[in-house]
Amino acid sequence: MSISTTIAELTEYVGQTVTLHGWVLRNTPKGKLIFVTLRDGTGHCQCVVERGDASESFFEEAKHLTQESAIEVTGSVSAEERAIGGFEVRVTNLRTIQGAVDYPITPKPHGVDYLMKHRHLWFRSQRQHVILRIRHTLVDAIRRYFNDNGFVLIDTPIFAPAAGEGTSTLFELDYFGDPVYLAQTGQLYVETACMAHRKVYCFGPTFRAEKSKTRRHLTEFWMVEPEIAFASMDDVIDLAEDMVCSLVERVLADHRADLEFLGRDVEALERTRKPFHRISYSEAAEILRGPQAKELLEKDLAEKTAEIEELGNRIDELIETGKTAKKKWQQEKAAQQEQTARERRTELEEEVSNIPQHMELAAGFEWGSDLGGSDETIISRLHVQPVFVHRYPKEVKAFYMRVDREDDRLVENFDMLAPEGFGEVIGGSAREEDYDVLLSRIREQGLPQEPYEWYLDLRRYGSVPHGGFGLGVERTLGWLCGLKHVRETIPFPRMMGKFYP
Ligand code: 4AD
Ligand code: MG
Repeated sequence: MSISTTIAELTEYVGQTVTLHGWVLRNTPKGKLIFVTLRDGTGHCQCVVERGDASESFFEEAKHLTQESAIEVTGSVSAEERAIGGFEVRVTNLRTIQGAVDYPITPKPHGVDYLMKHRHLWFRSQRQHVILRIRHTLVDAIRRYFNDNGFVLIDTPIFAPAAGEGTSTLFELDYFGDPVYLAQTGQLYVETACMAHRKVYCFGPTFRAEKSKTRRHLTEFWMVEPEIAFASMDDVIDLAEDMVCSLVERVLADHRADLEFLGRDVEALERTRKPFHRISYSEAAEILRGPQAKELLEKDLAEKTAEIEELGNRIDELIETGKTAKKKWQQEKAAQQEQTARERRTELEEEVSNIPQHMELAAGFEWGSDLGGSDETIISRLHVQPVFVHRYPKEVKAFYMRVDREDDRLVENFDMLAPEGFGEVIGGSAREEDYDVLLSRIREQGLPQEPYEWYLDLRRYGSVPHGGFGLGVERTLGWLCGLKHVRETIPFPRMMGKFYP
């Protein structure tokens, strides 16, 4: 009798016979033995087929198993430290459920465009599997944080009658003859809700017609947005800080091994502790123009240029190794390493070519302009903890942000920049609670009043100081996992020019 189970449960069945269902990751015949690495969605397991115990038919079947074929295996479980996952199954029966022919993603390196076109299959690779499991935990941790702290979940609409975050990134739709927009934010609606429930949050997909092809921009992304009544900007910053600490803690607790697998510097993440840095926009502007930023970029330039040269030498060596290697696997290995080195070199060359521009932007940063991506990177790299940059010039910020009563050139807003160069993951503010000020801000920004009448009502009837923030799931996950690009942080990324599959 065998017990049908999963790889994650094998620890319960040492010494017993089990049946597993999964997919073939690799298949390595070695004389009388065949090592089949199985993945079943819960883990990896080494299955060993021996000619002696196997009937000739399924030994042959096992020998020719192709990558990603779906199979059923039965065998006895033993603990095996050296094997992937720590267990081994000695196969006594094997059945192919469906044989895969020419699986498009082979162990050889593929370019990222190719992988993105095969996202539906790329999903299965270990790295993608790990990232999306961490995403699952992150989303769970976010919900738990708010649910455990007295926040009420309010689902906000996706069809929105007006812009929530400026008009430049709206996706417009035809709503039975009227224009509506895909929601850029749920904020205006959670503001409504906090006047009824006090502490609320929404959590859903949001849409921005971002024409920028950067490592930080998606056109569809997930955002969690808490909103609290009777709160100042500092209260909201305290909330963001506390929440981020709890998210980092949870991901570290549940995914240390996964983060190491991804090559994340786990110690750096562990250093995330309260208090985070808090600097004003004006201080940030000073930092950008100052010697620290210049030194950082000059050092970068020198280090990266040196690395490019080293990689050049390494590539030459690998070409030579490939030519002189006798065995096919040695040639393949050299080719693989050569490709990796080339990719890294291309990446560095691009980075280096951008440094002079980043230096110029930082040195010439003018008070009054918004922080650009490269400016955020500099500020974030100069700090060990996440940094809250607060009180930006009102001209570059959304209409709803509360005007600073001590300096009316500013608004009471903040961005939280993740450290190590990851940049903005949170944007938030106190909201303008005064009817007249809000109306003049709507007019200043050239927005029509009519679609905001309902929003203005909140300032007519029992208006109170309130505020909140939005945390982007993908950027947060990118930071936690140490990923350069957000495209791997969402199951099916949507970016400018990319919506397949
Ligand atoms: O700073 P943003 O635009 O703020 C708002 O939408 C506010 N209404 C939130 C609020 O106060 N309730 O966006 C918030 C966060 C950013 O910090 C970033 O993490 C993420 O959403 N984000 C994006 N993520 C991926 N791709 C994009 N195009 C993003 N735009 C914003
Ligand atoms: Mg922002």
